[in-house]
Amino acid sequence: MEKIVINGGIRLKGEIQVSGAKNAAVAILPAVLLCDGVCRIENIPAISDVNVIVRILYELGATVKVINDNTVEIDPKHINSYVLSSEMSSKMRASSYFIGAMLGRFKRARVAPPGGCDFGVRPIDQHIKGFEALGATVTIDNGMVNARAKELVGSSIYLDKVSVGATVNIILAAVKAKGLTIIENAAREPHIVDLANFLNSMGANIMGAGTDVIKIRGVDTLHGTTYSIIPDQIEAGTYMIAAAISGGELMITNVIPKHLESISAKLIEAGVTVEEFDEAVLVRSNGRPKACNVLTMPHPGFPTDMQPQMTAFLALSDGVSVMTEGVWDNRFRYVDQLTLMGAKIKVDGKVAIITGVENFIAAPVKATDLRAGAAMVLAGLATNGTTEIENVEFIDRGYDNIVEKLSAVGANIRRVEFIESGIIRSVI
Ligand code: UD1
Repeated sequence: MEKIVINGGIRLKGEIQVSGAKNAAVAILPAVLLCDGVCRIENIPAISDVNVIVRILYELGATVKVINDNTVEIDPKHINSYVLSSEMSSKMRASSYFIGAMLGRFKRARVAPPGGCDFGVRPIDQHIKGFEALGATVTIDNGMVNARAKELVGSSIYLDKVSVGATVNIILAAVKAKGLTIIENAAREPHIVDLANFLNSMGANIMGAGTDVIKIRGVDTLHGTTYSIIPDQIEAGTYMIAAAISGGELMITNVIPKHLESISAKLIEAGVTVEEFDEAVLVRSNGRPKACNVLTMPHPGFPTDMQPQMTAFLALSDGVSVMTEGVWDNRFRYVDQLTLMGAKIKVDGKVAIITGVENFIAAPVKATDLRAGAAMVLAGLATNGTTEIENVEFIDRGYDNIVEKLSAVGANIRRVEFIESGIIRSVI
């Protein structure tokens, strides 16, 4: 077991390079299954969710060549299984993407329901609606999702709810279907565009990704490609808040500033300076933040995956802020942990009323999920004294070398390994 230990209260200064996008990588890697050649994928983040997917591809029979920490070459030719056991799929939400990818390749998929962070109910009804519209029969038996089709034929699908996962999965199933598929009310997240660009680089014909109408004209084959994943919007946003919450100044590089607009806008509203460059943003704190209200929404709204980090930041603001979670039913579980550090936050359903305090008090806390873990790290950076964070494995699901990156800009942060009652040795 590992903990992250932070001696906070230090103003961060310097440059942090953002890694490739987790949510793009976990969609692009299963998409490799659809290809008839070798895919070289670059700018892959070194995170455990990616390791899980690469492992799944390997166990399914793909030839995987790890070129370095951020580049792999995958040849899916020898994959001949359309089954993903619960042992493989329960670790993460994105394992559901194997349903679309396997359907697209084998016209069959048998995949255990996906795991991932617990934000309340995480249905896949819109994914299933899409598969059925393409001609698949979908049943659930013995706890496995079974999808099969004689052939997949393009169709028009209106998503009742804007869903990243359903949009990705329908694209995967439709890319080699016969004829034209139209997804209406599609998700517009940057990683949807990245997946479409990746598939198009293999010969797919996908138009409109990034808008709410995506048109996919099926093709017979997809060829090998070399592709570099976009920078991670949420990792970048987390480090933007690290600069602001620590009272420091960070140049955050390898970003697409357009993807950060909703985050920049809210930070500016809170009194932070954000300067945009071509592939970087400079973020500078101007003292205690001003309170502001935030509503999370699908892209281009403020991302739900930045909600815990922003809440931690606003908990130190001057005034009362209202954070409304517009995507998930239950994404405030971590607030109890911030409260242990002295935050004053009252949650009522999907709304949190945040009364800013001047300082947090160092305390042992837990990461209750991935982004909640990031919020604990940010709180620790802002706090005089020693903050210990348990359940680090959640943070490692989505942050590439977070301890090393923050140490390099001045944070006093390290990992320690411990057994139950005591710390036994320092890891970093
Ligand atoms: C993805 C992200 C996750 C992010 C979320 C919203 C990945 C691997 N994960 O999750 O980090 O928090 O987008 O930006 O990319 N819904 C339905 N029926 C469905 C599918 C979804 O009702 O069939 C609802 C969900 O309950 C939720 C909303 O739609 O309220 C959004 O979910 P969705 O966009 O599908 O999230 P994920 O793809 O699971």
